[in-house]
Amino acid sequence: MRSTLVIVLVSLVACSRPADNAAAPAYGVNPQIKMNGPLIDAKMTMVAAWEFPKNPINDKTLDSSKLSEEIKRGFRLFTNTPGEAPDLVGGQMSCTNCHLNGGQRERSMPLVAVPGMFPEYNRRSARLFSLVDRVVDCFLRSENATGKGVKAEELPARPEVLAIAAYLTWLSKGAAIGVQPAWRGKNAIDAAALVPVEKFDLAKGEAIYTERCVTCHAADGQGVKIGDKIAGPLWGPDSWNDGAGAARVYTLAGMFKYSMPYLDPGRLSDEDAQHVAAYIDSKPRPAYPGKDKDYVVEKLPVDAVYYTRPQANAPSSVRGTH
Ligand code: HEC
Ligand code: HEC
Repeated sequence: MRSTLVIVLVSLVACSRPADNAAAPAYGVNPQIKMNGPLIDAKMTMVAAWEFPKNPINDKTLDSSKLSEEIKRGFRLFTNTPGEAPDLVGGQMSCTNCHLNGGQRERSMPLVAVPGMFPEYNRRSARLFSLVDRVVDCFLRSENATGKGVKAEELPARPEVLAIAAYLTWLSKGAAIGVQPAWRGKNAIDAAALVPVEKFDLAKGEAIYTERCVTCHAADGQGVKIGDKIAGPLWGPDSWNDGAGAARVYTLAGMFKYSMPYLDPGRLSDEDAQHVAAYIDSKPRPAYPGKDKDYVVEKLPVDAVYYTRPQANAPSSVRGTH
């Protein structure tokens, strides 16, 4: 199964290479890749997984200045986080595993023009967050930096964090400040389609996972190598920790609902996406030590299944006992 998948993908990618006489594509992507503005179209399949519409490594507008070098470093960090920042990543997640195509894919939590929206109020911490604060939070939680004993206060000044902020800001060159990008916030399940927390069906989630996800993510959730690409671990010690956004079932469902399964993106129903997300978030993962400082002012969301405090409306079976 695995070798078949690799062959299919490699041939798809090979025949999508541009012809020599093809018109110069916008944003440096080959013309076979459908774009929506600066982003890879949400309907593109995994053939587009290797594309970066804006790629600082080969962008001719960047020179050899310190800033240009840091933008390039930020891109390398974003696309190979465990390899480039080994002492800040307590597992195997790369930013690009969740923010696909280097943060340049539609409905995959794209980050183009998002820097212009910061500082912004952060509900979990109940204070204003700068772009750097937001990147730090993704390190602490999605990247499980706390698993490496990294102290939150040290992170804002770390060159790795600043380099990623430089890359994200460069991606957003020319975007208006304070204007919500049209593609932001499109990774949520519609409120009307939310399954109540007590109705999450883990057995159903597991069955859908086995049918639709296992070829690429593997039975143990650790990912299958496809060419030089491997998805990040969906659970276990190398995955995101239990204080991450992805550790919330509705957030996780919205995260992959529009991009997975990667050969048929958007195919899962809203309901099925939530059962699979509940299954993934029922699995063990590293503990975030700062959970008691989250949602102190704002209400604890009902889908924050790993928090031990009682949630409004949540039955005891989902109070962080997974
Ligand atoms: C496990 C998946 C995952 C990984 C890995 C991850 N993120 Fe995120 N990121 C998220 C989720 C979920 C959100 C919140 C989206 C939401 O609020 O709806 C988010 C939000 C963000 C935002 C704010 C986006 C916005 O529109 O407000 C930034 C910036 C960001 N991440 C940067 C990063 C960086 C940099 C890395 C790597 C150091 C990273 N992320 C790694 C899942 C991830
Ligand atoms: C054809 C292969 C393929 C299939 C099928 C697939 N995925 Fe993925 N998935 C990937 C790849 C590859 C990535 C990482 C993308 C990257 O880094 O560019 C990914 C990323 C993810 C992520 C982001 C976090 C992480 O650990 O990388 C989640 C969550 C996810 N997939 C869930 C699912 C679910 C749920 C299904 C089934 C409904 C599914 N995927 C089916 C290939 C696949």
